[in-house]
Amino acid sequence: MNVLAIDQGTTSTKAHVLFDDGRFETVGGIAHQQHFPGPGRVEHDAGEIAAAVETLIGRAVAAHGVPDAVALANQGETVVAWDRDTRQPLHRAIVWQDQRTQPRLDGFGAAQKALVAERAGLPLDAYFSASKLAWLLREVPEVAAAAAAGRLGLATSDVFLLGRLTGRYATDAATASRTSLMDLDRRCWDGDLAALFGVPLALLPPILPCAGDFGPVQIGGAERPLTASLVDQQAALYGHGCRAAGDAKITFGTGTFALAVSGPVPVRGREGLVPTLAWQLPGEAALYALDAGDFTAAAAIGWGRSLGLPMDGALGPGPSAIERGLVFVPALAGLAAPHWDRGAGGLFLGLRQDTTPADMARAIWEGIALRAVELLEALIGADAAGAVSVDGGLTHDDGFVQFLADALGRPARRRASADLTALGVAMLGFVGLGAEPPPVSTAGDRLVEPSAAGAAIRDARPLFARAVERSKGWFG
Ligand code: G3P
Repeated sequence: MNVLAIDQGTTSTKAHVLFDDGRFETVGGIAHQQHFPGPGRVEHDAGEIAAAVETLIGRAVAAHGVPDAVALANQGETVVAWDRDTRQPLHRAIVWQDQRTQPRLDGFGAAQKALVAERAGLPLDAYFSASKLAWLLREVPEVAAAAAAGRLGLATSDVFLLGRLTGRYATDAATASRTSLMDLDRRCWDGDLAALFGVPLALLPPILPCAGDFGPVQIGGAERPLTASLVDQQAALYGHGCRAAGDAKITFGTGTFALAVSGPVPVRGREGLVPTLAWQLPGEAALYALDAGDFTAAAAIGWGRSLGLPMDGALGPGPSAIERGLVFVPALAGLAAPHWDRGAGGLFLGLRQDTTPADMARAIWEGIALRAVELLEALIGADAAGAVSVDGGLTHDDGFVQFLADALGRPARRRASADLTALGVAMLGFVGLGAEPPPVSTAGDRLVEPSAAGAAIRDARPLFARAVERSKGWFG
């Protein structure tokens, strides 16, 4: 038995096949274009992404035959408007990073903020889907016209892709928990939230468990079920093997995404942390997680590279930048958890005449790790013991993982596969078939222990906390 997993991410779409003997084969990946049509705006072409999904399915069948099932992970809070008759997008997808709706959200009052926090569990931030869905309805005439004609599809990107693959429109409870429109306790759409944001309830798709029957996919001349669909960070949490309260993972992708399993009810009231649904599986109680993400991780490395800084191998031997008083706060798109300050500005502090490009590159890497430490400690406390499981592109850099372990004062378990999202959703694809997923393999994982250099880095950490405070409110 095998499941084809499609990981539809922010910068690319990847495909893998998971076999019941535990083999996990990479099929390939296709990057899609990032559009930046204005300050703070980030868009994708949903048609380009759908074409990439289809191409990868074709490649998977060519390489491994027709799978028993298909599973889909989505990039989260990104939204699409499309015509249900033609199945064509009516506007470019508005990506989770897009900040165009923040000014409107900033105009919401305390009562509205409290309602969203209480019902959806989320802060009023443009990151989450609802304000973007409302923007499309309000600002794009073709979207409003399709709504008036009863032809509008308007939802997170998973719904658009599921429609293309299966002909059915649905979302899952984990993805829905990222919209600000779902009642987090009852896991259904909330009329008051829909009215607050200006998104008609009637437009929203049914919410399904994260594994089960999402409809049939025509694949390689056969019909196969799509048996799992959920948001990528939750899929990665599952792929890391996190199942019990306190189990945590950090994924270093475009942003830094730290999640910890919290238990069968959402945990509210932890300052700046976001309760979210981890997953809901057939025949099981829902499981919740706490989320502490930040917008900028690999994005800061790319930014440093674009300035010509020597980003590769920047964390070599020698004292860290922070020990020498040089700090970088990677607030290039503001600060997310636990600060939630979109007005924060990225900053270097401690520049001197002898600061070199290599020092600045090092400080950027360190700043990403130090933010991750802040996030993890907010999630599970500074005294938690044991290794934290990490993945994502940046963890290929040995110096980065070592610095992270040093700054944390506890080991980092670097997962052998950088594709924990695809692994997690593929495992859930087995669950959706009613089968036992193959066990999470730890072969090839590397445990990186804190080194002797760690104490000096931990001693210097208050400097980073001070710099974070100074970065706040820079843009108002
Ligand atoms: O919340 C956004 C996050 O889920 C995106 O993840 O891997 O597509 O950058 P990624």
